[in-house]
Amino acid sequence: EDPRFLQPRPPVVTILGHVDHGKTTLLDAIRHTNVAAGEAGGITQHIGAYQVEHKGRLITFLDTPGHAAFTAMRSRGAQGADIVVLVVAANDGVMPQTREAIAHARAARVPIIVALNKIDRPDANPDFTKRQLAEVGLVPDEWGGNTIVVPVSAKLKQGIEDLLEAILLVSDSLDIKANPNGQVFGTVIEAKIDRARGVVATLLVYNGTLEAGDIVVAGTAYGRIRAMFDFRGRKLRKAGPSTPVQVMGLNEVPDAGELFRVYANEREARQVVEERLLQRQQRRQALPKASLEDLFSK
Ligand code: GTP
Ligand code: NA
Ligand code: MG
Repeated sequence: EDPRFLQPRPPVVTILGHVDHGKTTLLDAIRHTNVAAGEAGGITQHIGAYQVEHKGRLITFLDTPGHAAFTAMRSRGAQGADIVVLVVAANDGVMPQTREAIAHARAARVPIIVALNKIDRPDANPDFTKRQLAEVGLVPDEWGGNTIVVPVSAKLKQGIEDLLEAILLVSDSLDIKANPNGQVFGTVIEAKIDRARGVVATLLVYNGTLEAGDIVVAGTAYGRIRAMFDFRGRKLRKAGPSTPVQVMGLNEVPDAGELFRVYANEREARQVVEERLLQRQQRRQALPKASLEDLFSK
């Protein structure tokens, strides 16, 4: 993209951390304390991504349980998130999945903010956990390092404002921009088949503006967007950079983490998909017999 056409966009934040350290509870706390007014109780379905407003600025959160989507995005070299919020329970400390999350974030060159969670628990040991964090290279800024560590209690909804503040602070130190008028592309957050609505995919727009009626290709899935909704389930016509949307109209379920792109017309889209299908077939045929057997034995 030509830098002259780039405009600031909301930061995209992924929450990672060890099992049961409180990722989902933290996301709920953020959502319930900060989702824009006028929609209380309006969030009925989980779409894997949502936006909140803090001090008049939007922040996009990706809910990636088990960080499957994040891993997939990373393996495709896509910039899945601008910032990782690493949830570490202060009573449990740094655990295997904490280390794994740090490795993911580092490989993707995404800065980490630590949410030191469960500080309400009587067995919480924030200092011990900070020492552990320092040992794995996340030295808290209060100790002269450059990792922001925000004590929170997701359960009691404490420290949430501080966390959002930290996210905006880190965002401001990054160059978070895209061209809303450029080539439309992004990533698949999750997708499924819905009995009534067919293929429903949650997409995150990285660049350009996605519009209802656009022809989208994601991997080997393609189709015209029949309907588009925001994370609250409201109908949308346009979605700019960093906006998560739910779309209907793809012919099959794309993989989470797959990149998507808008094409000028259905013929072009079909051509791209046919080429991909052909390549996939050729790769399969090129596999030696043993590895094919391996594949089927799994
Ligand atoms: P997975 O998705 O299974 O990896 O777990 P998670 O990281 O999403 O954790 P989850 O939000 O499901 O929380 C796990 C447990 O910790 C639940 O019983 C929560 O109620 C509890 N919990 C989460 N945050 C806090 C907190 O701040 N304080 C206390 N005391 N409990 C918490
Ligand atoms: Na859990
Ligand atoms: Mg969870």
